[in-house]
Amino acid sequence: MKVSRRNFFIKAIQGGAILTMPSILGSFLESCNSNITGPAGSAAGLATISGTTSGSNIIISVDSSSPIAKTGTAALVNSSIGAVLVDHPSTNVYNALSSICTHQGCQIGNYDTGSNQFVCACHGSRFDVNGNVTQGPAGAPLQKYSTSLSGTQLVIKV
Ligand code: FES
Repeated sequence: MKVSRRNFFIKAIQGGAILTMPSILGSFLESCNSNITGPAGSAAGLATISGTTSGSNIIISVDSSSPIAKTGTAALVNSSIGAVLVDHPSTNVYNALSSICTHQGCQIGNYDTGSNQFVCACHGSRFDVNGNVTQGPAGAPLQKYSTSLSGTQLVIKV
């Protein structure tokens, strides 16, 4: 059977693509690997809270049944206008940050209670409770939102 130059070229490219597939796939999987450990420790998935909205405000209860009732805790707050990270570093103090990683846009969903850092599972970036990068590859801080507490109701202004 005679193989035309054109068919030979096509088959060579297909063969090359198959041969290089494992290395491409390996690189892809490596880049998607959930590396949520780092020098500061390891991280676990955040508790989630459903917030209600009023205009551009997200409102949650922080009563004794809330996952962030105790100091040193954090949660991912979901709402119809977006998801935010909230932590509770000290009595009556709450920080709220964008949950969108500034590296490549993954939603951050992990928290390291040992170092009080939010951790992006996509490539391992870490952020302190003020949103500052403590470990890359992210190069920019998370957007911080103001909060106000009224009784057990926390309002996050996004
Ligand atoms: S998207 Fe890459 S570290 Fe978050």
